[in-house]
Amino acid sequence: MVGTPRPTSTPVGTPVAPRPTSTPIAKPIGTAVGTPVGAPRPTVGTAPVKPGVAAPVAPSGPLPPKLPAAKPEESKVEVSRRNFIRGLAILGGLAFVASYIPLFPYLQGSVGVQKLTDQQLVIDPDVSPLTPITPSAVGAGITFAYPYTGNANIDSDTFVQCVLIKLPSDLTLPSSYDQYTATDSSGNVYIAFSRVCVHLWCLWGTGIDMSDTQVGGPVLGPCPCHGSTYVPGTGGSSVYPKYPAAQNQVPGQAVAGPASLQPFPNNQLPIIKIRIASDGSFHAYGRVGDVGYCQQC
Ligand code: FES
Repeated sequence: MVGTPRPTSTPVGTPVAPRPTSTPIAKPIGTAVGTPVGAPRPTVGTAPVKPGVAAPVAPSGPLPPKLPAAKPEESKVEVSRRNFIRGLAILGGLAFVASYIPLFPYLQGSVGVQKLTDQQLVIDPDVSPLTPITPSAVGAGITFAYPYTGNANIDSDTFVQCVLIKLPSDLTLPSSYDQYTATDSSGNVYIAFSRVCVHLWCLWGTGIDMSDTQVGGPVLGPCPCHGSTYVPGTGGSSVYPKYPAAQNQVPGQAVAGPASLQPFPNNQLPIIKIRIASDGSFHAYGRVGDVGYCQQC
């Protein structure tokens, strides 16, 4: 508007505010940036303590035992491999046991698990089923299974094979054998042996052999495997004139072949205890010795 004076400049005499000047900050040498000057510096390894909060007090007394160092964590591959091997071992054990289950009935007839009871002796059922053995049937020898089960598989087990013989009249028995042997009404003496050779368990034969040329008298054997030969009873020089080793021995003594070289008691055949029952048939009621090993053991 014409006539209105335009302000031109600050009127003379208006005080001018002083310009703020920057204040220099003094940095103390060696102090971390941001740390207020004068604040207490935390000790290395110690948790900072808040102002106003009580500092934790170290426990006095003995230090607690150190915990074992934690095992390094196993990888999943290692764990699954170990479980796999463990599973295989368990399965192998189960398969091993299962493989014997069908054999249990047969193992009952083997050495170590035989149940010895008083039993009537029967002629080999393959020959004449369940015919009792009587003195007239014995002769030089008759085989039987003891213990007898009626199961053909078990009764054919080597370790139950036995033979009953009539003792040749020129042989005798020590009186201590009377309790294991039987005498019929005619005075004939009978004795039974295990057929398992004490050398390496072959079956040595089925009765008395009168044709042996080495021992030159009645023998049991020779065993077909390695020739072990046993005497069925005690005979003197009149029975075994050319073979002194066979003279005056106990029944079942090995006198030739490898079984005769085995030290006592592993050189004698086990004996089966027999008796003649009131019905006139033979019964077995026990054993003297261990089959395949010895008589006096
Ligand atoms: S097994 Fe009979 S002599 Fe060897």
